[in-house]
Amino acid sequence: MAAGSTLQKAIDLVTRATEEDKNKNYAEALRLYEHGVEYFLHAIKYEAQGEKAKESIRAKCLQYLDRAEKLKEYLKKGSKKKPVKEGGSSKDDKKSGDSDSDSDDPEKKKLQSKLEGAIVIEKPHVKWSDVAGLDLAKEALKEAVILPIKFPHLFTGKRIPWKGILLFGPPGTGKSYLAKAVATEANNSTFFSVSSSDLVSKWLGESEKLVKNLFELARQHKPSIIFIDEVDSLCSSRSDNESESARRIKTEFLVQMQGVGNDMDGILVLGATNIPWVLDSAIRRRFEKRIFIPLPEEHARLVMFKIHLGSTSHILTEQDLKTLAGKTEGYSGADISIIVRDALMQPVRKVQTATHFKHVRGPSPLDKSVIMDDLVTPCSPGDAGAFEMTWMDVPGDKLFEPPVTMSDMLKSLSSTKPTVNDEDLKKLEKFTEDFGQEG
Ligand SMILES: Nc1ncnc2c1ncn2[C@@H]1O[C@H](COP(=O)(O)OP(=O)(O)O)[C@@H](O)[C@H]1O
Ligand SMILES: [Mg+2]
Repeated sequence: MAAGSTLQKAIDLVTRATEEDKNKNYAEALRLYEHGVEYFLHAIKYEAQGEKAKESIRAKCLQYLDRAEKLKEYLKKGSKKKPVKEGGSSKDDKKSGDSDSDSDDPEKKKLQSKLEGAIVIEKPHVKWSDVAGLDLAKEALKEAVILPIKFPHLFTGKRIPWKGILLFGPPGTGKSYLAKAVATEANNSTFFSVSSSDLVSKWLGESEKLVKNLFELARQHKPSIIFIDEVDSLCSSRSDNESESARRIKTEFLVQMQGVGNDMDGILVLGATNIPWVLDSAIRRRFEKRIFIPLPEEHARLVMFKIHLGSTSHILTEQDLKTLAGKTEGYSGADISIIVRDALMQPVRKVQTATHFKHVRGPSPLDKSVIMDDLVTPCSPGDAGAFEMTWMDVPGDKLFEPPVTMSDMLKSLSSTKPTVNDEDLKKLEKFTEDFGQEG
């Protein structure tokens, strides 16, 4: 096909579409719009123009898609009331017939089975209560995920649940973790978890088909949640060194999330990113709700210390924990989990390096309900009753685990620095001001 002819065809089609639209032949207009957009997408893919030209075509496409969506809705309602009007319903039937025959396509079957390997339909065990703080984000997610499934009748008419939610914020603040909680708590829906770097790298070239199939799978298994972690690597707007395949993935995403000819009922796309400002503006708009996941506040940090300590034996008081929470301003959830994990290792190190042990009374390591008198625990050489020994000589069932102490925590704290820098925080703040909502 000669260069530009696809584009010309696309322009002809949408011109006719707008005419039919004006003459109120909506079914025909819809068909022409959809057809035209297909040609535009083809033109973007295969007839290389400048980035500017492509951007403006894309913008046009979105306009046409918007219009097409409206027409489709109108026709759907109209055809229910008056089934024989303007042949609208018969067009619709033909369309759905088309997509049915598509699913018999063997290549598609192959891709879908491949995709089933790339996506994780997992059931993690993270509960809402495991996620500290982030109350607003949790509420928004419940509103978008749990309520529509539990009370479908609440979400009829104009009240429609969110179709796209973006979680953004500094790294390690619990975005992926929160998504896991969604997967656990929304147990009636299918959870597709896609790592976008997987999509991009593994099947270069086939990726946009994979995206298409991903959405189709989600439709088959609805209600579904599609979670795309690090969505920036899939849909960024950096155009200079962007590969052709990345561009195609992006376009396919737009088409799928737009929902023209594609039913988005019962499908929620959940995205997460540390660098929201690189997202393509069209993609950004598809995420109707954008929730800022901030660094944890003092109270959330206190809860995190408790969560991460769990049931490990320790002698930290509530006041100690408060002190720690106060000292960790600027630390992310991930930083705090590392501090605690490091501190939890200190007792092990004490056992490993001890030269002296002493006898203590305490619960047996094998059965906590049995109290034993002859347990041994590491101590300093000066302690009363200390005797020389190394861990090699301690019988496995006789070791009394030294509890985690405040000084263990402080030591780990002093050796762990916060990972989030001010520069990124500023950029995130700016993005929140412009496009976001506090979570
Ligand atoms: N709000 C939180 N509550 C409890 N743990 C958290 C929280 N935020 C982060 N963490 C801890 O930090 C780890 C990393 O968080 P993650 O969700 O992967 O961060 P990111 O925001 O970069 O996706 C989690 O596995 C969890 O242990
Ligand atoms: Mg993450």
